[in-house]
Amino acid sequence: MTAGKILIVEDERVTAEDLRDILTQLGHSVTAVVSTAADAILEAERTSPDLVIMDIRIRGEMDGVEAARILRRRFDIPVIYLTAHADPETLSRAKLAEPLGYVIKPFQEPDLQANVEMALYKQAVDRESRQRRERLSETLNAIGEGVISIDRKGTVTLLNSAAEDWTGWTQSDALGRNFEEIFRLGPPERLEPVRRVLSGGPVESLNESSVLAARNGTERAVAGSVAPVWDHTGTISGAVIVFGEAKEESGLPFDPQYLATAPLGFELVLESAAMKQVMGLARRVAASEVSTVLIDGESGTGKDVLAKYLHSHSSRSKQPFLAINCASIPEALIESELFGYEKGAFTDARQQKRGILELASGGTIFLDEIGEMPLALQAKLLRVLEDQAFRRLGGVKDIQVDLRIIAATNLDLRESIRGGRFRLDLYYRLNVIQLTIPPLRERRDAILPLASYFLRIFNLRFKRRLQGFSPQAEQALLAHDWPGNVREVRNTIERAMVVEDSSWIQPSSLGLRPDLPGAMHIPESSVTPAFDGMSLGDAEQTMLVRALEKTGWNQTRAARLLGITRDTLRYKMKKFNLKADRPG
Ligand SMILES: Nc1ncnc2c1ncn2[C@@H]1O[C@H](COP(=O)(O)OP(=O)(O)OP(=O)(O)O)[C@@H](O)[C@H]1O
Ligand SMILES: [Mg+2]
Repeated sequence: MTAGKILIVEDERVTAEDLRDILTQLGHSVTAVVSTAADAILEAERTSPDLVIMDIRIRGEMDGVEAARILRRRFDIPVIYLTAHADPETLSRAKLAEPLGYVIKPFQEPDLQANVEMALYKQAVDRESRQRRERLSETLNAIGEGVISIDRKGTVTLLNSAAEDWTGWTQSDALGRNFEEIFRLGPPERLEPVRRVLSGGPVESLNESSVLAARNGTERAVAGSVAPVWDHTGTISGAVIVFGEAKEESGLPFDPQYLATAPLGFELVLESAAMKQVMGLARRVAASEVSTVLIDGESGTGKDVLAKYLHSHSSRSKQPFLAINCASIPEALIESELFGYEKGAFTDARQQKRGILELASGGTIFLDEIGEMPLALQAKLLRVLEDQAFRRLGGVKDIQVDLRIIAATNLDLRESIRGGRFRLDLYYRLNVIQLTIPPLRERRDAILPLASYFLRIFNLRFKRRLQGFSPQAEQALLAHDWPGNVREVRNTIERAMVVEDSSWIQPSSLGLRPDLPGAMHIPESSVTPAFDGMSLGDAEQTMLVRALEKTGWNQTRAARLLGITRDTLRYKMKKFNLKADRPG
């Protein structure tokens, strides 16, 4: 039996009390007993009951039928009518509120019980299917973006449903044909970007004012991006075209210069041509229903921010975004974090626990540093990607999920595949769309905009009024190689602002030392000047190096010496670019 919260609207005291007793005995809770339509509406709003039992004839200006209609329309609360005698006219009017039942007075308990149960059941089912429909139409609206994958020779290997709509081809008809037959872009030279990417070029946008002719001849303006797909040997294995409506493309794709996404609280600076190409693709990928995305780029290039961007620009943005860092969580924990466990799955499992795969369902999972995922788990992850299903540890039943998985790596996964540390099949499964963030030294036009952006941010945060960079400081910024990428810029500016006394940042406060690659290569920590001008980051790095040297680069002993776990040590070593084979 479904127990429900029920509101009673009945102006005969005795009947009302009878109803209350019976319903309570049946296990329902009665939220209130009222006698007028106006009170019914007030109570419904206040307590949102699952069901209202309503006398058709009640005192006051508004009768039960009218009140029921309002409850249904305004609050989606269903009604069972209670009626002694009703004229045909009232009865036909009563139907307008789509009542879920009629109970004739004087009522019989079994009759009441059956009506109430049916109504609660029907309401639950209706509500669920309505929600499902809403979710579906939300995704359908978002599936504007067509995705076509082609191999090196230009043969179509994938056509998503939006691309089917756009081109008029079904995937099964299109597979094996040359993309030029399916993706008929005019004029013909409009396909040049695809050809350039196939011959080894970076991500490109389709030319403006490209027109796509569907199979039946209808033409529509499209815009989009073409990105290379690399195989595990590092050669181009094909390309992916992500495209959609052209209208938003007028003017700058990103206007203003900063993209603010309040819910996740981050901003992205896009002041470089290379980054704009990547983000043009990213925006379409976000809106497409592609369920796996691989982000690669050196440490500090902005993989985390890009992952959040993808989530917040997808139809899943209101659902959870959960991240797990495969490098910083001990191996034994990653599995239970991801999959959760059943009570008793292992000694410590006193309670059932849901993993992030389950908690994020409907949303996005960000698997950071995927290259560090243990091999055995990689196989399990592959299954999640293929079936959108998994089992809790110690569980026997499959749990179905709906997830977008974004994986990021700063390792060369191809190298890991060669070394037997990464599964080839997982690589291909993740590699549907690969977003590569170029290192900062390859997009030098972004250095000054980024520096100014961080200056602005830290001015606000530190309540400072620094004006900008002296010409020499700008020179120094431009000349530096930024091995720590955007994170290094951020940390450099943060530190410079703390030490700078004048209102323009001078080269000396930047403290850029080309002889120390990756010196400020640290995670999100705040850099505060320590004694003798050393930043926290530098100090941390020095401590790490000292501990490692003292122990002959034995990571276990060094970790013990520092009082941190081995995993944390490994993580920090990676952040600071400290290699185990480094000469002491
Ligand atoms: N385009 C950008 N605009 C503004 N800030 C950025 C941009 N790219 C990166 N950042 C900032 O740089 C820092 C490093 O970025 P992020 O953490 O995303 O790097 P990452 O590639 O994930 O690095 P790692 O491989 O070390 O995890 C963050 O503070 C981030 O906010
Ligand atoms: Mg990261």
